[in-house]
Amino acid sequence: MGRHHFHPVDERYTPEDIAYLDRAAALKEIRAIKLRSYAALGPLRGVRLLEVGCGTGDDAARLARAVGPEGNVVALDSNAAMLAEARARFGQVANLRFELGAAAALPFTAGAFDAVRADRVVHLVADPGAALAEMARVLRPGGRLAISEPDWRSLVVEGGDADTTRAILDGLASGPRPSTADFVALVQAAGLTIDAVLPDTLVITDLESAYELFRLGYLALAQVQRLGIDAAAAKRWLASLETAAAEGRFRSALTGVTISATRDGGR
Ligand SMILES: C[S@@+](CC[C@H](N)C(=O)[O-])C[C@H]1O[C@@H](n2cnc3c(N)ncnc32)[C@H](O)[C@@H]1O
Repeated sequence: MGRHHFHPVDERYTPEDIAYLDRAAALKEIRAIKLRSYAALGPLRGVRLLEVGCGTGDDAARLARAVGPEGNVVALDSNAAMLAEARARFGQVANLRFELGAAAALPFTAGAFDAVRADRVVHLVADPGAALAEMARVLRPGGRLAISEPDWRSLVVEGGDADTTRAILDGLASGPRPSTADFVALVQAAGLTIDAVLPDTLVITDLESAYELFRLGYLALAQVQRLGIDAAAAKRWLASLETAAAEGRFRSALTGVTISATRDGGR
């Protein structure tokens, strides 16, 4: 389904992207990362929690159950279509409220939350430092942050044309997406104390899933545009991945990190 073509994505979500988030959330590896990030927030009962970049709202709804009726969850997303989907799914949950807004300009007062969570969001925003500063600002002293983010510089793609693979992965390494070390530095620069940095590696040997999860077609297109890699070479690269997959030589992996941190000044 279109995977032989470049797959440009942008921040305007389509029903296909919503289905993608659902498929990703159903993977046992992703479910484990989500559970790890919920746990990193500490005891949840009675907590006022902010979910930044809530997507379809599934995590926010789960967290609304965890905080119980004496707590509440605000789920924010900058994308109106995504928020409409989340509201359609979970608009009736009493202690869950959805808000349109941007991570780098959170529409909340300082110290309004006991816990803030973001799952594959900070790596997307234009100014990740501003987003983390905002998340720190809305946390009360002693409040907990948990972010789970991919480190795109860790991407491994094996089996395709080696020269183009190297050019594309080098392009990612010099690109704007933060590395694990950058995420740690940004959390610290926001004035938070790191509690834990926990990596998770997703190994994908099925090309269809790698296209979807690692956006290989999009990566090729982005490098064509950004680094001026020859478009024909990028297409040949995608074809070489198909051949590798057919011959059982395709492998890929991406490591992400869950960082938990505390805002200083609590009891
Ligand atoms: C990869 S999806 C992850 C969604 C959800 N957290 C999950 O785990 O399924 C990224 C989400 O972040 C939202 N997003 C992207 N940039 C944002 C920003 N600057 N502020 C708030 N939300 C943003 C997108 O609209 C999208 O819903």
